[in-house]
Amino acid sequence: MKLPAFLALLSMATHVATAADLAPFPQADLMPIGVYYYPEAWPSNQWARDIANIKKMNLEFVHMGEFAWAFMEPTEGKFDFDWLERNVQLCAEQGLKVVLCTPSPTPPVWLSEKHPEILMVDATGRKMLHGTRQQGCWSTPTYREYVGKITAELGKRFGNDPRVWGWQLDNELSHYGKEPCFCDACQTKFRAWLKAKYGTIEKLNEDWGNAFWSQMYQNFDQIRLPNTKELVAQINEHALLDSQRWFADEAADYLRFQTGVLRKHCGNRQWITSNFMHMFNAVNPALLGKDFEIITWTHYPAHGNLNTGPLGFRLGGAAEMSFSHDFHRSINGFEGLMELQPGQVNWGDVNPQPYPGAIHLWIMRAFAANAKLVCTYRYREPLFGAEQYHYGLVGTDGVTPTPGGEQYSQAAQEIALLRKLLKPDAKEPAAYAARRTALLYNVESRWDIDDHKQTIRWDTMGHILKSYRALKRLGAPVDVITEEKDFNQYPFLVVPAVQLVDEKLVQRWKDYAEQGGHLILTCRTGQKDRRGHLWEGPWAMPILGLIGAKIEFYDTLPVPNSGKVKVGKKIYAWTSWAEILEPNSGTSVIAEHADQFYAGKPAAVTRKLGKGTVTYIGVDSEQGDLEAQLVRGVFPRASVAVENFADGFLVDWRDGFWIATNFTEKQQRAPIAKGAKIFFGATEVPTAGVTVWQE
Ligand code: GAL
Ligand code: ZN
Repeated sequence: MKLPAFLALLSMATHVATAADLAPFPQADLMPIGVYYYPEAWPSNQWARDIANIKKMNLEFVHMGEFAWAFMEPTEGKFDFDWLERNVQLCAEQGLKVVLCTPSPTPPVWLSEKHPEILMVDATGRKMLHGTRQQGCWSTPTYREYVGKITAELGKRFGNDPRVWGWQLDNELSHYGKEPCFCDACQTKFRAWLKAKYGTIEKLNEDWGNAFWSQMYQNFDQIRLPNTKELVAQINEHALLDSQRWFADEAADYLRFQTGVLRKHCGNRQWITSNFMHMFNAVNPALLGKDFEIITWTHYPAHGNLNTGPLGFRLGGAAEMSFSHDFHRSINGFEGLMELQPGQVNWGDVNPQPYPGAIHLWIMRAFAANAKLVCTYRYREPLFGAEQYHYGLVGTDGVTPTPGGEQYSQAAQEIALLRKLLKPDAKEPAAYAARRTALLYNVESRWDIDDHKQTIRWDTMGHILKSYRALKRLGAPVDVITEEKDFNQYPFLVVPAVQLVDEKLVQRWKDYAEQGGHLILTCRTGQKDRRGHLWEGPWAMPILGLIGAKIEFYDTLPVPNSGKVKVGKKIYAWTSWAEILEPNSGTSVIAEHADQFYAGKPAAVTRKLGKGTVTYIGVDSEQGDLEAQLVRGVFPRASVAVENFADGFLVDWRDGFWIATNFTEKQQRAPIAKGAKIFFGATEVPTAGVTVWQE
């Protein structure tokens, strides 16, 4: 709508628009909360009622369309968006924003029938058929063509529509564990990718170490995607690493392709994202940081398996969840949860009820992590289909709020109140800022270690989370960053098991420490080059000058054995990986082995380097308690004061608000200064409790 000239002038005079106002996620909105709705699956005479009820639950946006291709294009080239238009309008009438999706995870049956080449091929060589979702192969030109058409049609219809806030591309891009696809198109694309990377077959033979077992190739056409189902003995891990790189690049390319089609119609008036699966690593959201306005992800914290601790199965894992926020946010500064569990789910091993209040806890944890939106799958509990038993915000009758529904509603009301209390210019508290830490996450190292773990007792993400948990216990704000970010803005930098390095990266770590940074490296770091080859020289050669020690050897222990490491008088157990170090002069030992044939030898060391410090923790402890102790030790040596929170009690600051979230089974005390104003909760935070205050 165009303002009359004098009004426009008046508004310009009273308010100079800042970049933050113009961006799609202004600070003043804090964190809108929304929900998924599937009009295509409910009777049309219930749409108005459902959407009005979503509004009554205080929610602010509705997400639609990601699985509706058969309804958007019922037969080839005949597009029908009228049903969607009616729902968009119903939302607009309620003052609800709309997030629309491209329906590419669910190709309609007529498309697979006419073009079976769009169907992905699994490792055994079987074509996956119509009947569930994510069976389309996004590397086939035909599939891209059809996806391009439906995306363009959506863009034409809604790309300039003020009722539509933003777009989600696809849905949890993946083949739900069956990736990569082994179809001919994928084989061809992989070869082209290799050719572009290596130029000559000789170079590829060298980098893949093909002299081993006569694996030598004569030309690129002889290469296939490495596939355990068609190989007799151990896979070539350099080939495997490249196939993982290719798959992630190809997935990013596909999302970029959809983005390009949509942008022609929506420009930057509407934001674009995709909903990445929580820490699923075959697809790499970090590759899309420049393409998307916001990076969003999906998270189901409580589904009976995975979580530890007596109540973990109902509360979810604090560190896992918080790490994922810190990772997705660090990509381009904007992150959100596109799917956060609404209640009991149906696809875990057991699917227990979440703890009372846990859903509210998760929403407010997203707020504490600076999420720009939270959305939940789904509004109504489905009465049919593969996700029967999965809760929604309302139950099977379609109207009665579930406990989760009530918690989303409560959180949305709280956010509305916090908007009124917001002090836009609030400065980050100095003591908190002083603890700011970057944790370097390199997905390629994660792949490479997992491709060849050396001991089944090793868990790469579990290891990374041990350092992360240590940092959150200190009350440190953490950014989980990728390599191209500037390390120097962080007083502390943790590098957990970053196995693949080159001289340049190690030089950047050296410079960082010399200029005053406090660097912490953990075991397995620097053991290989980018190709995944070991160094011709001492073990982990490039980092030895940095850590001021040699790595004599490493050890692993079979079940039921565990080893012991000592810090002062305290003993810590390890089971998966331990390195035996040999410090140079000037390097101090901060932990030593307390048993095995190397008892008394160093397990962790620290040294000064230029204006900073370097600490190397050579052992992956069983519980993470060793890492907690040694990471903690770095801060006082740097004269930075820290907190002493329980593992699972997370406290962070955002936009002037302090938020404490309790994922532990005990009551915890929030560090509230005298004179602070408490808005929600209390100083003593119960299990699943949240306290929000301003100082
Ligand atoms: C997500 C998925 C949704 C729905 C949900 C069920 O991973 O994106 O479409 O299947 O799980 O919990
Ligand atoms: Zn394919």
